Amino acid sequence: MHIGEILNDSHVDSVVTVRGWVYRSRESGRLVFLVIRDSTGIVQVVVEKGVVTPEEFEAAKRSTIETSIEVEGKCSKEQKAVTGYELHATKIKVYQFAENFPITKDKSDEFLLDIRHLWLRSREMTAIMKMRETLLDSIRSFMKENGYHEVQPPMFVGGMVEGGSTLFEVPYFGEKAYLTQSSQFYLEAFMFSLENVYTISPSFRAEKSRTRRHLTEYSHYEAEAAWVSNQQMMDMEEDMIVYIAQHLLDSNREELEIVKRDVNKIRAIEKPFYRYRYEKVIEIGRQKGLQLDDVSDLGEKEERAITEDFDKPIFVYNFPTQLKPFYHRPDPEDPLHVLNHDVLAPEGYGEVIGGGERIWNKDELIARMRSENLNPEDYQWYVDLRSYGSVPHSGFGLGVDRVLTWLAGLDHINKVVPFPRSMRRLRP
Ligand code: 4AD
Ligand code: MG
Repeated sequence: MHIGEILNDSHVDSVVTVRGWVYRSRESGRLVFLVIRDSTGIVQVVVEKGVVTPEEFEAAKRSTIETSIEVEGKCSKEQKAVTGYELHATKIKVYQFAENFPITKDKSDEFLLDIRHLWLRSREMTAIMKMRETLLDSIRSFMKENGYHEVQPPMFVGGMVEGGSTLFEVPYFGEKAYLTQSSQFYLEAFMFSLENVYTISPSFRAEKSRTRRHLTEYSHYEAEAAWVSNQQMMDMEEDMIVYIAQHLLDSNREELEIVKRDVNKIRAIEKPFYRYRYEKVIEIGRQKGLQLDDVSDLGEKEERAITEDFDKPIFVYNFPTQLKPFYHRPDPEDPLHVLNHDVLAPEGYGEVIGGGERIWNKDELIARMRSENLNPEDYQWYVDLRSYGSVPHSGFGLGVDRVLTWLAGLDHINKVVPFPRSMRRLRP
């Protein structure tokens, strides 16, 4: 039986068997108190001399943290026990006495990253992995309900999407390949058949910046939709974010408590979000004391200052054309700005989505590439998509790890990724 199943009155007085790992242990004369954990929770076990065999009692005494163990015992309600219930052991079987477990209280974040293969067992990481699963499930159910098809783009690619400075190069049978920075161009190809498509795939960025929100490998949820404008894409994202946030709140109360999230902050995520033109956001930044030019790229520090007093996400739309990659569609009425948007998460978290309309006219796309000193031949297949019945379309990319960091109220992206990858970390 799983521990989670016995943490209620329905099994009081019955004899059950649980399996798991020793989470804590304490001895007091004729009694040994073990707290056992499994994937569903923790429970206190009392082992009493004379009730179990002398060998079993010795085994309980010897049980170190992380010892794998099976316990048969009678359930009772016990207010003083850690989760309100207790097992009185009648049988004990140890699978393996654990060696001295290296994780003790108050270890540094850096140490816990070095030992992530073991820290994954912590209550905190277990809770976060459960929330991560909820987030991915809810993205998929939202997309299905909204008529999007899930597709699988390649990860080895022949060209860049988001600029050369963060491109990972990989030797590829005498050729140069890259790890994809974004699946957007492939989603645009799928769009001509399935119309509304999305993927949740890794993206790779050779990020040299060390911030609390950058990884070199991250989970990227990207969507692309035919016939959809920038404003309509923002409407869809607003519904989606409310949906996934509420879903997390409904499904993971216990986990949110474990990571000490103030759930009122999640409750506050309601429609409508704020929607500001780029210039307005620059103005907000200046009021916050930031030194910003009229055309400034916003980084981690700036977005933190801008968003820290907000309670809901902010759409920032129509950025200056010169700040954005070539594929963004300039506003036909105002070509110095593109029809795009970012979503900035509140409470200082900053950018979680980048998206917008794509240039769908072939000549316009080629002209824009040339003006950025890019060679259209390097993007041959992408340009070719505009040759056969091109249509207006929009899309976005959302950083799953960033959204989870925000919704769980954590202070670093490393905390939500099982095995985070950064410039300085490839192991474990
Ligand atoms: O803003 P970005 O670079 O946009 C694109 O890649 C578009 N091609 C997406 C699209 O329209 N299909 O990245 C999108 C999002 C960012 O808003 C951020 O949330 C996340 O991906 N992201 C990162 N997350 C973690 N670590 C990094 N190094 C990230 N870089 C981007
Ligand atoms: Mg961006």
